[in-house]
Amino acid sequence: MRYFFLTFASVLLAVVLVAGPQGRKSENRPFEIFPDMDHQPKVKAQAPSGFFADRVGPRAPVAGTVPIGLDMPEAKKPAHTPTAAEIRANATFTATTSYLDTGKMGDRWGDGMPTEVKVDREFLLRGKDRYEISCAVCHGSLGDGKGVTSKYGWNGIANYHDQRLVEMSDGEIYNTITNGKNTMLGYGANISVMDRWAIVAWVRVLQTARLGKVADLTPAEREKLPK
Ligand code: HEC
Repeated sequence: MRYFFLTFASVLLAVVLVAGPQGRKSENRPFEIFPDMDHQPKVKAQAPSGFFADRVGPRAPVAGTVPIGLDMPEAKKPAHTPTAAEIRANATFTATTSYLDTGKMGDRWGDGMPTEVKVDREFLLRGKDRYEISCAVCHGSLGDGKGVTSKYGWNGIANYHDQRLVEMSDGEIYNTITNGKNTMLGYGANISVMDRWAIVAWVRVLQTARLGKVADLTPAEREKLPK
C-alpha cells in the first residue's frame, strides 16, 4: 500500500509538472510531438517580411510578367501549325479491335501499315520526331539500344538491328509501343494510334538504313557516295 501511494504521488507530481503549474505564462512555444509543417518561413498576405530590403512581404510582379491564360495579341501563330489542343482533338487512342488499333489481324500479329495510314515523307518525319521524344532515351537515335539510359547502367535494352526484331511484324512492334514488353512499359496512353504507327515506320527506317546495300541504290544515288 505504501508503494501505491508513493507511485501515485510521483505520477501526480509528474503530471502537474508536465501540464505546467497554473497561473504562469510561458513565452516559449508549446512542446509539439508532431510539428508537421505548422511553422514555415513564408510570406503571409499583407504581412511584412524581413527578407526584402524594403521589408514589404507581397511583391509586385516583375516587369514584363505575362499572366497564365492571357493570349498575347501580337503573338500570331502561323496558320498551318496545329495547336496542342487541335492535335489532341484529332488524336485517337486504342478503342476498337481493328488492325489499326491493336496491330492484330484476328488472333495473330499483322504485318504492313494499316490502310488508314499514308506513309510519306511527312509521316516518317513525324515518326522520327516522336521516336526522338519517347524512345531514343533508351533505344538510342540509331535504334541500337545504346540510349542515355545505357550510360547509367541499364543493360538489356532491345537493339532493333537484332535479326529477331528485323523480322518482327509491324503489328507486334506496334503492340510493344502500346502495351510494353517485359521491362519496357507501354506508351498506349501517351502516344496516339497514328503516332505509334509513325514510330513503327521510323523503326523500319532505322533498320533499313543499316541493312541497306550499295546495290539497292540507283546509279545516280551511287554517284553521290563518298569514294
Ligand atoms: C525506359 C526505356 C525504354 C523506352 C523509353 C522505350 N523502350 Fe523499348 N525496350 C526497352 C527495354 C528495356 C526493352 C527490352 C524488354 C525486354 O524484353 O526485356 C525494350 C524492348 C523493345 C522492343 C522489342 C520488344 C520485343 O519483342 O523484344 C521494341 C520493338 C521496342 N522496345 C520499341 C520501343 C519504342 C518504339 C519505343 C518508343 C515508343 C520504346 N521502345 C521506348 C526500354 C525502353
